[in-house]
Amino acid sequence: MLLRNRASLRTRMTLTAGAVAALVCVTISVAIVIGMHGKDVNDNRHRAVEATERVVVLVREGRLPRVLRPRGVRAIQVLDVHRRVIAASEDLVGKPAIASFHPAGGELTAVRDLCPPTGLTGCMTVASHWAIQPEGNWVVYAGRPVPGYGGPTFVLLLAGVSLLVTAMTAAGAYRVVGRTLAPVDAIRSEVAEITATGLGRRVPVPKNRDEIRSLAETVNDTLDRVESAYEQLRRFTSDASHDLRSPITAMRAQLEEALMYPEDRDWPQMTRAVLQGVERLQAVVTDLLTLARLDAGEPPRHVSTHLAGLVTAELDRYPRKAEIVRALNGGVVVECDRLRLSRLLANLLDNAERHAKSQITVTVRGEPGVAVLEVLDDGDGVPVEMREVVFRRFARLEASRNRDCGGTGLGLAIARQIAEAHGGTLTIEDSEKGARFVLRLPRAHVWM
Ligand SMILES: Nc1ncnc2c1ncn2[C@@H]1O[C@H](COP(=O)(O)OP(=O)(O)OP(=O)(O)O)[C@@H](O)[C@H]1O
Ligand SMILES: [Mg+2]
Repeated sequence: MLLRNRASLRTRMTLTAGAVAALVCVTISVAIVIGMHGKDVNDNRHRAVEATERVVVLVREGRLPRVLRPRGVRAIQVLDVHRRVIAASEDLVGKPAIASFHPAGGELTAVRDLCPPTGLTGCMTVASHWAIQPEGNWVVYAGRPVPGYGGPTFVLLLAGVSLLVTAMTAAGAYRVVGRTLAPVDAIRSEVAEITATGLGRRVPVPKNRDEIRSLAETVNDTLDRVESAYEQLRRFTSDASHDLRSPITAMRAQLEEALMYPEDRDWPQMTRAVLQGVERLQAVVTDLLTLARLDAGEPPRHVSTHLAGLVTAELDRYPRKAEIVRALNGGVVVECDRLRLSRLLANLLDNAERHAKSQITVTVRGEPGVAVLEVLDDGDGVPVEMREVVFRRFARLEASRNRDCGGTGLGLAIARQIAEAHGGTLTIEDSEKGARFVLRLPRAHVWM
């Protein structure tokens, strides 16, 4: 377990391959040794029987000497009809019979392993053969040592070959696994080196279309997303700090100048100027907090709401400078967070009021499954290429910057985020004149 946790994948795979190779080698070696032993045992039996047959021929031809030459066997004996040893290999002359079994069931020969045969040492394969004589059957015995399981040289050779095969398999596995895992290591070291300043780097993608390639592609996709999120955050931070710093710098300059020439100052007028700066700061900070809350995904409190009612309440809150034309269809219901939706609407109305020449048209209508709210003014409108840009945080068109200094450039970013939090969209669409902001929200199924 400890090894499993500590050792690298490469070491583990190498050990596993080595262990499997060793197991296979041992199994094959054992099978070879057993197979060869079986063959040796058979051979041994044949050669013992052959030795008895040669002696039987001598008996039959009446040429049996008292001392026999044990050709190819360790011991040989001939017993007469009274089972007395009448001929034997040199060391068994005058010794008792080495065995007492005979071929049975009409057979001429029989073979047995005796451990040991009488008067001898060690286990032997003893063949017994009838030699048919006129006065009765004589018996010939021949014994050969039982063969062992391969010689030590052979066993050593097998062990050596097994070791070699195991070592080569392990080395091969080490190399192959190393080569296979090299791209993973390259990905790991590249990811380790990617810091906040080096988010532009990407991990190498291997050529082979395999799992490692998918891993590299996924890592690169993730890095793409992290980079764009980081870039967005960086832009937002720099815009936010710029928008916070500008009013502070202006107020500081006004206050320092006033302190330098206190007697020349129009203090009430200066206080009003500083107050304007404070209000701007307050507006930026409030918008930033709203965005932070929306970014954090704070759950909206959804309530079934008549869209026309909500719009009427917002329009009636205070009189607007421009003429308001209302085209509000009743019966369009949405599930929404009323406060947030009022905030969205207020921003669209404030913008329209700021840019309209004389008239603003507010429309509420229902489409299948969709509730639509439009705010249209008769101002200069938003150029087509800027229709997405104005939804970015702190984005303000040049014309607006010159005309008024009140806006923070966060209103539409907040409005779109509120729309999306409700599962809807907020876009600028074509119109004959002015800007036409269109909010689409999922329509509630229940009728109130
Ligand atoms: N009805 C409109 N007609 C023309 N331009 C518009 C209109 N509404 C918005 N814009 C442009 O989009 C920019 C971004 O609008 P947004 O509401 O986000 O910011 P803002 O109105 O400048 O400031 P804030 O709403 O935070 O007080 C505006 O500065 C303006 O240039
Ligand atoms: Mg605005």
